[in-house]
Amino acid sequence: MVSPIIPLSLLVLLLLVSLVNSASLEQSFVQCLKLNSGRKPSLDSLIYSPSNPSFTSILDSTAQNLRCLVPSAPKPKFIFTPDSDSLVQAAVICSKKLGIHFIVRSGGHDYEGISYVSQIENPFIIIDLVKLRGINVDIKSNTAWVQAGATTGELYYRIYEKSSVHGFPAGLYTSLGIGGHITGGAYGGMMRKYGLGVDNVIDATIVDANGRILDRKAMGEDLFWAIRGGGGGSFGILLWWKVNLVPVPPTVTVFTVTKSLKQGATKILHRWQEVAPYIDEKLFIRVIIQPSSAANKTQRTVTTSYNALFLGGASTLLQIMKKSFPELGLTRKDCLETSWIKSVLYLADFPSGTPPEVLLKGKSTFKNFFKAKSDFVRKTIPETGLEGLWRRLLIDDSPLMIWNPYGGKMSQFSESDTPFPHRNGTLYKIQYLTLWEKGDKNPAKHIDWIRKLYNYMGPYVSSFPREAYVNYRDLDLGENTKNSTSYEKARSWGYSYYKKNFERLVRIKTKVDPQNVFRHEQSIPTRRF
Ligand SMILES: Cc1cc2nc3c(=O)[nH]c(=O)nc-3n(C[C@H](O)[C@H](O)[C@H](O)COP(=O)(O)OP(=O)(O)OC[C@H]3O[C@@H](n4cnc5c(N)ncnc54)[C@H](O)[C@@H]3O)c2cc1C
Ligand SMILES: *[C@@H]1O[C@H](CO)[C@@H](O)[C@H](O)[C@H]1NC(C)=O
Ligand SMILES: *[C@@H]1O[C@H](CO)[C@@H](O)[C@H](O)[C@H]1NC(C)=O
Ligand SMILES: *[C@@H]1O[C@H](CO)[C@@H](O)[C@H](O)[C@H]1NC(C)=O
Repeated sequence: MVSPIIPLSLLVLLLLVSLVNSASLEQSFVQCLKLNSGRKPSLDSLIYSPSNPSFTSILDSTAQNLRCLVPSAPKPKFIFTPDSDSLVQAAVICSKKLGIHFIVRSGGHDYEGISYVSQIENPFIIIDLVKLRGINVDIKSNTAWVQAGATTGELYYRIYEKSSVHGFPAGLYTSLGIGGHITGGAYGGMMRKYGLGVDNVIDATIVDANGRILDRKAMGEDLFWAIRGGGGGSFGILLWWKVNLVPVPPTVTVFTVTKSLKQGATKILHRWQEVAPYIDEKLFIRVIIQPSSAANKTQRTVTTSYNALFLGGASTLLQIMKKSFPELGLTRKDCLETSWIKSVLYLADFPSGTPPEVLLKGKSTFKNFFKAKSDFVRKTIPETGLEGLWRRLLIDDSPLMIWNPYGGKMSQFSESDTPFPHRNGTLYKIQYLTLWEKGDKNPAKHIDWIRKLYNYMGPYVSSFPREAYVNYRDLDLGENTKNSTSYEKARSWGYSYYKKNFERLVRIKTKVDPQNVFRHEQSIPTRRF
């Protein structure tokens, strides 16, 4: 805020100085890029500064959390959208040389918006990988190379284009950026059968802190371990992932069955906790929980929707459900037999009949003002605990929870195989969200509500550490460790995201990026040992 006592002439002068500064910074950056990439053609079309009419639309384009786009949120000096790997490399070199901090964006789904807003660095620029979305699927070798800026939906589509019996086990949502998504784990409807995205990565290329491009062999097994689950923005800029494809049957089955409190939702959900993590690993039944959208608030109830993917036909599914989970009362009418690619569209909530080509548009249908948190559950929550949860859900305007079963393949990895530690013994993960509308006068009310809900859940969920999913980034974590050093705070969220793997991540970070070039609000810290 500008104080009114500063004379206007001084203000104009200050404004001019800052304009000249950012213009010359941009020019120096471009000159440096040209020198370092050997690039002849103009780079002007790849750089967007606030004076460019497209600046706001580029900044907002893939950003998912509107809470981080409000006018008061800090804005970048400019956005650079490299169209080649060597320009990403040059951008790292030139940012270092000019002393300007960069943050990296692939798909823009970060829950706290840290791929497009920095609260701790001023000034900063965005390196946006939106133009780097190559995908090369090779069915013969069962593999694909995928570039960071491609989306999960594009990858699924390119696989489907070549084969109806191959797939890839990553996110349910189809606009996630491969770059930021796989770095944090990447779960989806096939996780109980095939594990996470990171469990199916076999090679990668990154730009490291010295501006070198390294593949798995060149980076070594320590760094290759760290980038498979250690979270985005700490170890380098991921350029390409090489992944193994997985087999999918020609026919899969999906269903969604909804139960309200009146229909016995509490007892059924209690039972789900005992069943879903142990049932056939080809079956993934998540639960979407929210108040019914009754027009009349006093008549609101809680609804639980069982939203499932089964890697097989309906008759086998019905047998499994009859034996293990009859309480849900699944019938043949509830089941939809379809292809794997159409199950992707179904689980991502596209209207029925949407053609798979929609996946190439990379468009998100989410975009909200929201705050979210996550928990991992290791023992079933009693019915009284669930009832307390319903009472809390009913008082927020637009809350949402998604419960996501573990077990199966997830239990076969040890906690230290990858930095993602939430493995054997985890029954399921809870994601809590609160959403609000643009005109909401009091967003703080919703954030306060979700923090209280999180406190309420404390006794029912994992503890020491209270685990959280790094891809559901939560900047509240570590903040309650009052009067502690920044390293102690980092250790607090670090143990939530990675458990003991945090210590190994810190050692690797200190070795490969001692100057902490890749840093953000929750990047892995360096430490002298
Ligand atoms: C609507 C929605 C649905 C979701 N569904 C799922 C789901 O089904 N399964 C699941 O596992 N997760 C899901 N997520 C979470 C998602 O996996 C994370 O938000 C993930 O980080 C998104 O990656 P991105 O590239 O889109 O995000 P970005 O915001 O671009 O990046 C996230 C983080 O990674 C860093 N980063 C980005 N690109 C790179 C790169 N190339 N190299 C290094 N660091 C990089 C960023 O700086 C930032 O710190 C969902 C999120 C949303 C908003
Ligand atoms: C909402 O429902 C309650 C209970 O059925 C009723 O008493 C109340 O009048 C209704 N309010 C409105 C605005 O319809
Ligand atoms: C998972 O944990 C259970 C209970 O502690 C144990 O019996 C089982 O052997 C473990 N499974 C694996 C694959 O480690
Ligand atoms: C906080 O830390 C400082 C420095 O270690 C110490 O002097 C102070 O007493 C601490 N305050 C509290 C409330 O623990």
